[in-house]
Amino acid sequence: MRRIIPLFIITVSLFGCESSQQVSQDPLEQKIDSIMSKMSLTEKIGQTAQRGTSSRVKGALSEELKTAVREGRVGSLINVMNKDFVDELQRIAVEESPNGIPLIFARDVIHGFKTIFPIPLGQAATWNPELVEAGARVAAVEASTYGVRWTFAPMLDISRDPRWGRIAESPGEDPFLASELSAAYVKGFQGDDLSDPSSMVACAKHFVGYGAAEGGRDYNTAIIHEPLLRNVYLPPFKKAIEAGVQTFMSGFNELNGVPVSGNQFLLDQVLRQEWAFDGFVVSDWNSVTEMIAHGYCADEKDAAYKAARAGVDMEMTSQSYDKHLQELIDEGKLDVNQLDRMVRAILRVKFRMGLFEQPYRIDNEEVVLSEDHLKKAKDAALQSIVMLKNEEDILPLKTSQKVAVIGPLANAPLDQLGTWIFDGDQDDSVTPLTSLKEKLTANRVKVAAGLDYSRDRSTAQFSSAVNAAKQSDIVLFFAGEEAILSGEAHSRAHINLPGAQEELIKEIRKKTKKPIVLIIQAGRPIVLENILDDVDAVLMAWHPGTMGGPAIVDVLLGDYNPSGRLPVTWPKSVGQVPIYYNYKNTGRPAREESFVGIDDIPIGAWQSSLGNNSHYLDDGFRPQYPFGYGLSYTSFEYDNLKVSEDSLNSNGELKVSFELTNTGVLPGVETVQLYIRDHVGTITRPVKELKKFQRVVLNPKETKTLELTLSSSDLKFYNAENEFVLESGQFSVFVGANAQNTMKKDFWVR
Ligand code: NOJ
Repeated sequence: MRRIIPLFIITVSLFGCESSQQVSQDPLEQKIDSIMSKMSLTEKIGQTAQRGTSSRVKGALSEELKTAVREGRVGSLINVMNKDFVDELQRIAVEESPNGIPLIFARDVIHGFKTIFPIPLGQAATWNPELVEAGARVAAVEASTYGVRWTFAPMLDISRDPRWGRIAESPGEDPFLASELSAAYVKGFQGDDLSDPSSMVACAKHFVGYGAAEGGRDYNTAIIHEPLLRNVYLPPFKKAIEAGVQTFMSGFNELNGVPVSGNQFLLDQVLRQEWAFDGFVVSDWNSVTEMIAHGYCADEKDAAYKAARAGVDMEMTSQSYDKHLQELIDEGKLDVNQLDRMVRAILRVKFRMGLFEQPYRIDNEEVVLSEDHLKKAKDAALQSIVMLKNEEDILPLKTSQKVAVIGPLANAPLDQLGTWIFDGDQDDSVTPLTSLKEKLTANRVKVAAGLDYSRDRSTAQFSSAVNAAKQSDIVLFFAGEEAILSGEAHSRAHINLPGAQEELIKEIRKKTKKPIVLIIQAGRPIVLENILDDVDAVLMAWHPGTMGGPAIVDVLLGDYNPSGRLPVTWPKSVGQVPIYYNYKNTGRPAREESFVGIDDIPIGAWQSSLGNNSHYLDDGFRPQYPFGYGLSYTSFEYDNLKVSEDSLNSNGELKVSFELTNTGVLPGVETVQLYIRDHVGTITRPVKELKKFQRVVLNPKETKTLELTLSSSDLKFYNAENEFVLESGQFSVFVGANAQNTMKKDFWVR
């Protein structure tokens, strides 16, 4: 949505304030001019206010709110979920407010509205942008029937730290995968036509650096140098603009000493000047006034000034704009042109949404939880499941095997929905237990939860779980985290299975020796170091949503061949965190050959490195599972990597070809991944960077020759001067199944 808008400046008198207003020849801008010329300062400030309540508040529509809308003192509302209230408030805005400017109703519709899809981190594990787009479309179609035309999604925060609770909402650790998904979410939410009543305006959040919270502690300080910001954290946001995103949210965090909700560099220089964004920026919930606690603003008035100056157009819930913008303008501290720019941006989006022509929601309740939506949610859950371990092909289950269904997540309809599901209803969830009972005859299923919920520490039901295991051929242990243990404000320092889950797994192993399949439903990678040897197979199902149960059961029974791939590096221990595949080499790179483990060090050893490099003595340097990893019921082999040129110039292209064979006996999907390395840079470059990926379907014994094209722009990066450059020198291209298992060829940029 980048357009050059012809503008000329005229000066108009605005209720006593001299203001220069931009007038355009663009029909949309003319409509904005026309309405702006009639608006009072109060109404303009009103457009910048987003009022709302907690998502749970019920009760009557407040008279105070109705009056505020009637007087044009509200631009948007968050969390109004009663359809009658939505209709009534919109009617008041359109029919009774001074200029009839419609409201935008907003909500966190993050991974589904009533039909809940896997958490975003799970959707990222599909590596399937089309599927993500389809899921976002379903969410928009359902939410818009309730009047929600603006969602606070997608969250595009790159996260390298699984302790951070909001990693659940993130697209993972990689800027390229996140960017592809960013575009998919935006297209899905917004649809082809913003003015279609089923279009839901997307919001790229949280701009920016929130995922780099130190120590993974929510809301914490982020320190990111500018080239890193531009190379890793900004790309998914830029891609959202290219996909037409209409709004951005400034986050809670500070970045390099300045809270992002008051950060002119980010909101003005990068977003508006460099990227030519012409939609509007909303603050996060009270993030404007929280700049006082940050120690960046003295009081509410100062916060209002700094947020408006930086480029926050609409203030979510706190009311510093409402209280202080007029005063700031009257005192000459804030230029009225700045307010005009803010209001124009908000009106621009309202016009694009067609709200002036069709302000009212269209009731379409029958689409909610429709068969088609549930099918799409199941597809997403199926494709999100990552098989991490499958010793001796213990999975899929063999016909006639008797299963013991144990663990706190086997029948946890609320928890399988995950974080941020204000409108999802646990009564709509189909749990793994329900699905297993549907698919297997009753004599094959023994059920004993063993623990009631993930944090349960009681061992009282251990013996019944052990008995169920004894009477079965194989144990299906449904483990994980309750939904409330991830998401906003839910960071964890220990990211192993909470409660007595590890203990119960060990008890079953010790007392029964039965094979155990561990099925994890969680909002983050879980540290498995204490129990990995006690289980034979591991499936990571994330929090899979409404249709999680049938999806998990299809994978267990082999009706679906698992195809998910990790969108984040899976650590062995918390001590390895932060951990990510695109790290820097260091001057003493980690090497398998030279690694000396903690127990190999002779007692009384003389102080020396013992040959160790950038390792941990106790956990080495490899993660438990690398980025991009995931197993299948079939196997794939890569071979014959070729590059079309040995060198390329600044406008060149390189064809990278290779053969991929399904060497197993089942059809399957492989996600081929192409990484590059730029060996010498004016600033050091990561050891690998994902540049392409493709999901490929192969029948047993089928070989495909595949070709991916790398262009010179794929090799560019932001240097120390923050210029996007291609530097000549040696590069490598890697192709393979994950960030650790790749074939390699070198080439040169001349
Ligand atoms: C705070 C969260 O950080 C943000 O992501 C969300 O959209 C708002 N609250 C509104 O609920």
